[in-house]
Amino acid sequence: MTGTERRKRLKLGVIGVGRIGRLHARNLAQRVEEAALVALADVQLDAAQRLAQELDVPPERVYDDPLKLIDDGAVEAVVICSPTETHAALVEAAARARKPAFCEKPLDLDLQRIDRALEAVERAGVQLQVGFNRRFDPTFRAVREAVRSGEVGEPQLLRITSRDPELPPLEYLKTSGGLFLDMTIHDFDLARYLMGREVERVYAQGRALLSPRVAELGDVDTAVVVLEFEGGALGVIDNSRRAVYGYDQRVEVFGSKGVALGENPLPHQRRLGTAGGFSTARLYEFFLDRYAESYVEEMRAFVRCVLEGEEPPVTGRDGRVAVVLGLAAQTSMREGRPVAVREV
Ligand SMILES: NC(=O)c1ccc[n+]([C@@H]2O[C@H](COP(=O)([O-])OP(=O)(O)OC[C@H]3O[C@@H](n4cnc5c(N)ncnc54)[C@H](O)[C@@H]3O)[C@@H](O)[C@H]2O)c1
Repeated sequence: MTGTERRKRLKLGVIGVGRIGRLHARNLAQRVEEAALVALADVQLDAAQRLAQELDVPPERVYDDPLKLIDDGAVEAVVICSPTETHAALVEAAARARKPAFCEKPLDLDLQRIDRALEAVERAGVQLQVGFNRRFDPTFRAVREAVRSGEVGEPQLLRITSRDPELPPLEYLKTSGGLFLDMTIHDFDLARYLMGREVERVYAQGRALLSPRVAELGDVDTAVVVLEFEGGALGVIDNSRRAVYGYDQRVEVFGSKGVALGENPLPHQRRLGTAGGFSTARLYEFFLDRYAESYVEEMRAFVRCVLEGEEPPVTGRDGRVAVVLGLAAQTSMREGRPVAVREV
């Protein structure tokens, strides 16, 4: 018997088996050594049943109602991957059942609902981890380590470039909460993580440059956000919903002793030289392939924290702060002025 086999495995149920839920369920079943996937729930029962068959989840533990999964005595922890508007209620339901939860970002778009859910978690004394997977990306972790260890000195500037490959369907945009709460929210969390300090003020500008339909929805597809950190450091996030050359995800922390650069990893390292010059691989297509390892690592971290009774590395408070920064950016763009975080 190996050490891993001797250790207890945490029994988890996944709620919502869309794009991200399928990925987490497969990782829990196949790549997270200390996890056992025992239940699935989705309002589209057939989707959950198909995945259950693929991953050997018993048919009696496949539900069309997420509350039944939460109440199933065999489920020790839940992973919430249903649409954003369901998150707060499901986090509360898991807390009522005294079960630890992993919840995808964002916790909700409304701070009062987030606060109610976080109070329920606090009262129950269970763990909650929020799905900011980029903290688990090997490149960004190494940048954080260079800041934490003091190798870059006193951090003075942060840059995050975060550009999607293509505008999502307009149907998706209608309920996404807008660019700052849907997309930039990852960058807000990454900014706090990389710098190891809080943001005090946000100044945001956004435009709909890619499609007039985006403007009709009251949203933007191109944005710049200036961050002022406690202690005086500055940061810039730039976002686009369409980079024609692929999924562009780069970071930089500049400090008194040097700079830590987190460049785009490439699917392979070949460079091809021809009469026209040298070329490299195209960037990864999108988040599922670019951040594949980070999704495995965030689940490993959650499972380990639950089994060992520790606080998860991305807390409910982290989930709330990222929403506060998104709301501050919305107000800033609307009113054309910097917004202090304490105003939100
Ligand atoms: N961390 C990340 O990188 C990341 C990436 C993508 C999505 N997300 C987040 O994950 C969530 C889901 O996004 P997605 O792209 O997978 O969506 P999706 O539409 O592909 O999947 C959602 C699934 O949930 C099911 N569902 C709907 N209501 C439900 C309910 N009440 N109970 C159970 N199941 C229900 C749907 O039938 C669908 O199968 C969103 O909150 C999104 O913001 C996070």
